[in-house]
Amino acid sequence: MTTASAPGKVYLFGEHAVVYGEPAVPCAISRRAWVTAERRADSRLRVHAEDLSLDGFTVEYSGETDTAPDVDVSPGLIRAAMGYVDAAVSQAREAADTPEAGFDITIESEIPLGAGLGSSAAVVVAGIEAATRELGVELSTEEIADRAYRAEHEVQEGQASRADTFCSATGGAVRVEGEDCRAIESPDLPFVIGFDGGAGNTGELVSGVRKLRERYPFAADTVETVGDIVRQGERALAEGDIEELGTLMDFNHGLLSALGVSSRSLDRMVWAARDAGAHGAKLTGAGGGGCIVALDETEETETALRFTPGCEEGFRAELDDEGVCLA
Ligand code: MEV
Repeated sequence: MTTASAPGKVYLFGEHAVVYGEPAVPCAISRRAWVTAERRADSRLRVHAEDLSLDGFTVEYSGETDTAPDVDVSPGLIRAAMGYVDAAVSQAREAADTPEAGFDITIESEIPLGAGLGSSAAVVVAGIEAATRELGVELSTEEIADRAYRAEHEVQEGQASRADTFCSATGGAVRVEGEDCRAIESPDLPFVIGFDGGAGNTGELVSGVRKLRERYPFAADTVETVGDIVRQGERALAEGDIEELGTLMDFNHGLLSALGVSSRSLDRMVWAARDAGAHGAKLTGAGGGGCIVALDETEETETALRFTPGCEEGFRAELDDEGVCLA
């Protein structure tokens, strides 16, 4: 039996635009997913998952994800979660050259599903590490990141960047531009996160942006402008200029909103954070529902979020330098 864990993340800047080759800066946070893999005698998969937003469910199957378990969670989310586990196990089987290996998989996660904090990337990254180690194979962090990207790419039907999976595999702050992924220096950032209890459908949201981009030249310009914000943000990060980072986050949120990926509850939480004196705030991840991230070293934003209608949880998160590791 082998357990591995990997962190979730927030996007300081650049989600969606990164899909079109613009740079993005995701940062790993101190909320993790743990995946335990135990080899079975047969080639089946049995998955048990515990999540902040789930009461827990167990499903046994031989690789097919179309039999949804009888639990009080959206079947779409369960299917998506199972799809990621399947894809991670396929990558591990391929890496270890054991196509028939079966596993009992247990997932414990502090990262709400589909909420913009990189739950799927963390599960895929930790799942690949746990399952390959269980098969006696040790992969480099780069290979785990690459295989996790391929798994996400497959589940999201070709609409994924390397940002989430690379960040979860390496930890810390990273910069991703197309195939070029690297760790970057970052000061301690006073992240405050607001969660509306919901989730967005990454595939649909990415498609929505793609359609806007194809239809309107100014939507394509908007995506490029997000890239300009990221480049400016990298300079602010290197200088430790939190005030400037906040201003750029506000700008980035406005452009994501224009691209149609915000929601009423995300906008409400963003405004609650700004009104409470945060340096800046934006949605994080695919959008449509889920989480916002703000920068505030005081207690004010966290308190304001707790009293914001539609905000289910407001919490602080540290930048986490630890990427994927054996638990
Ligand atoms: C989702 O967490 C981030 C997106 O940019 C998609 C991706 O980068 O794969 C929306």
